[in-house]
Amino acid sequence: MRKLIAVITLALMPLAGIAASGGHELHQANIDLNNQAAIQRGAKMFVNYCMGCHSAKYVRYKLFTEVGLSEDDIKNNLIFTGGKVGDLMTIAMPEDDAAKWFGAPAPDLTLTARIRHGGADWIYSYLKGFYVDSSRPMGVNNTVFPNVGMPHVLWELQGVQKPVYKYEAHHDGHAVASFDSEAEADAYVKEHGEGYRLERMVEGLEMERPGSLTPAEYDQVARDLATYLTYISEPIKLERQRMGVWVVLFLIVFTVIAYLMKKEWWKDVH
Ligand code: HEC
Repeated sequence: MRKLIAVITLALMPLAGIAASGGHELHQANIDLNNQAAIQRGAKMFVNYCMGCHSAKYVRYKLFTEVGLSEDDIKNNLIFTGGKVGDLMTIAMPEDDAAKWFGAPAPDLTLTARIRHGGADWIYSYLKGFYVDSSRPMGVNNTVFPNVGMPHVLWELQGVQKPVYKYEAHHDGHAVASFDSEAEADAYVKEHGEGYRLERMVEGLEMERPGSLTPAEYDQVARDLATYLTYISEPIKLERQRMGVWVVLFLIVFTVIAYLMKKEWWKDVH
């Protein structure tokens, strides 16, 4: 029996989903792809706040008829360019221009949720992770995307966050000691000499100036965008998830049957 439990546990392991990034724990976005209202809100945010720089050029606006919008809703609320519902979500700004202005091209976001390790959680954490850093050209940095080129376009909604630093002494690529004050860490590194160096890490973020939304409301916005970007990265996923449940149930039932049959057949041998 114990073996049977072990087999089932192993079979279910991939469902556990483990995510981490840039040394920073990712926030759990807890998105729900069956939440059509969230996808609709995310799409609206996307066309209003993101499409100045980012396209989703493998997606037709028409896709959103699948999540409860009529063609008129789409025309009136999502398309500003006078385009048609059957058009792709392209933008006028060439990627090269963004590269010139921001030091990096603003990539097409159709597949980001699939490409980025952590998926929706990464996007959610990224949108929550901007903090002031005067050493950066845009005046901001990001907890999960160090030295990011994108400005914090949602700062008026979220507010301005400032970093709380901690200082670590590193030796052989490992942190060997951690300090709240830079001076203490510096003294430690100097004392130990060769092979030791000081690393400044962002330990957390503090709200310096609140935005127009409460933190909970801003989390909702970030979650909606993460839901939307995950949805467009793989609209067929919904269907596959529904099928997946049946596949897993079948595997469990089949494992039990196979085990019982094996016991029956080998009964006389042992
Ligand atoms: C003013 C232009 C601009 C706007 C508006 C903008 N971004 Fe960006 N974004 C960028 C640039 C430039 C990068 C690339 C940063 C880099 O590589 O350093 C980027 C990168 C990203 C990435 C990381 C992509 C990857 O995997 O590398 C995500 C996700 C993203 N943006 C989401 C958004 C969302 C969501 C919005 C709307 C709320 C938005 N962006 C609005 C310029 C913009």
